[in-house]
Amino acid sequence: MTTPTPIVDAQSSALLPDEATLTRLANEFFAALPARAVDPAETPALPSTTSIANSSASGAPSIAPAASPHTPAPDAARTAVDFPSRTTGVPPTSVGDAATWFAHAANFAAALPRVGPPSGPAVSGRAAPSPFYFLDPVSHDTRAVDADLRPATPAARPDFYFVDAATAPFDASAHPAFDVHAVRRDFPILSERVDGKPLIWFDNAATTQKPQAVIDRLAYFYAHENSNVHRGAHALAARATDAYEAAAKKVARFLGASGREEIVFVRGATEGINFVAQAFGRQFVRDGDEIVISWLEHHANIVPWQQLAETVGAKVRVIPVDSRGDLDLAAYQKLLSPRTRIVAVSHVSNALGTITPVREIVEMAHRAGARVLIDGAQAVSHLRVAVKELDADFYVFSGHKVFGPTGIGAVYGKREVLESMPPWQGGGNMISDVTFEKTTYQGAPARFEAGTGNIADAVGLGAALDYVEHIGIENIDRYEHDLLAYATHKMLAVPGLTLIGTSAHKASVLSFVLDGHAPEDVGQALSREGIAVRAGHHCAQPIVRRFGHEATVRPSLAFYNTCDEVDAMVDVLQRLARPRVSIAAPR
Ligand code: ALA
Repeated sequence: MTTPTPIVDAQSSALLPDEATLTRLANEFFAALPARAVDPAETPALPSTTSIANSSASGAPSIAPAASPHTPAPDAARTAVDFPSRTTGVPPTSVGDAATWFAHAANFAAALPRVGPPSGPAVSGRAAPSPFYFLDPVSHDTRAVDADLRPATPAARPDFYFVDAATAPFDASAHPAFDVHAVRRDFPILSERVDGKPLIWFDNAATTQKPQAVIDRLAYFYAHENSNVHRGAHALAARATDAYEAAAKKVARFLGASGREEIVFVRGATEGINFVAQAFGRQFVRDGDEIVISWLEHHANIVPWQQLAETVGAKVRVIPVDSRGDLDLAAYQKLLSPRTRIVAVSHVSNALGTITPVREIVEMAHRAGARVLIDGAQAVSHLRVAVKELDADFYVFSGHKVFGPTGIGAVYGKREVLESMPPWQGGGNMISDVTFEKTTYQGAPARFEAGTGNIADAVGLGAALDYVEHIGIENIDRYEHDLLAYATHKMLAVPGLTLIGTSAHKASVLSFVLDGHAPEDVGQALSREGIAVRAGHHCAQPIVRRFGHEATVRPSLAFYNTCDEVDAMVDVLQRLARPRVSIAAPR
């Protein structure tokens, strides 16, 4: 287990207990957590304070897997309502007791590392936390946390997934392999101040922040390797080509593809979908054929298919969603027919956070003889993706949503499918021979990368994927899952706040509207406190309108966010929600 490393300044570090004392205190604290009857035999001893970010560079951190916080509870007194597991997708099995959930949400709050502002004044209304989260008495006062977690009208919202979700004990050692303090130090921008307030970055669905490793890799490329690739008989061309090809291999490994030949670099998910719509679509979709997308899609997974349909005379069919934001698979089944050529669906919805059942979607499409594109733009930074197991024909994502640079992304395509597709853009790199009479092309994937690509950013993306793999996507998934549960409950305690998108299978996104306040105004109020969220239609107008709105406020989480940051946002929302006292004007 890794002890989260506290943020300390020079003065307070003089008062630090030594490492052995910290370790002993932390073990005592975890053993004493109220929600868990701890069997000392199952409590891992805390090792040194070495952070995961500083652990061996050889890949995954060498830390035993955590006891899962999602393990079924052996007895009622130790249960907590929890989201269903993302990996198993097991649906809720019992109706939970909201009070029990709140008690355990409080324990979660207590057990998560509390990251305070880097320095300077605390966000208004918040006491400055102790640098040692496990010594901070406020953090562990479950009564205090219970009180502010209690929803205004829990019974009025009977169908939220958290009320009837499966029960599981909260295990305070659930995040031993994940040190959010160390992770935060890897992202220089997280120490930024905005109008004097510490930056709280909750706009991760729009773009993620970059670790120093990515920033350094870009600088190194331009300082030592910069050249065009696959051409030039000189040392720098070789260095740049090696770096670029190594990045493509990293993408292949990250997605679980067979190899580099299944990866095409593009500018991002949007260009990736346009590439598939044009190169695959124009070859295989004909007049009278059908393209199936879902109501959850953002514009990038709608418009290219509409454009293709218009060009070839095909029809776009749309899988409906229910009131929680889950896809209606029965309706999907009915949409599939021998006319269906391709199904294009998001892995995670950018507007609602719904994790879609991609495995079933792929299987059902294949049974109907259709190819499948999965848009992983919102998934890759949160969940393990394994394209071969998934059996998707295409999987696309953007580098900037997974801690990499902007302007670079990738398409995974099954080798035989890519090889069946004609080029979509012409130019250098993609040809094997050109005469005025006839041009012949490279094989896949080179024939899809015309011109000089975004070489440096591809290399930067490789560094970002190395970083994510070093932290461990399962660690990220587990931590974010509990942070999302915590944030959900805190937000539902805000009077007049309605969450838009309440699927039992969610990642990162907390879209909401607040009675009496335009989403843009809420966004601005949060921004005045240094809290960055997106407010608007999120480039997904159909799904936002499906819920009766033109816009929502959309905080979206990443693994460097904390409970304290959620609390700061909820404080602002509580202040906005408070009824305004009207003072009668004197007659
Ligand atoms: N698709 C991006 C978002 O959700 C732009 O904000």
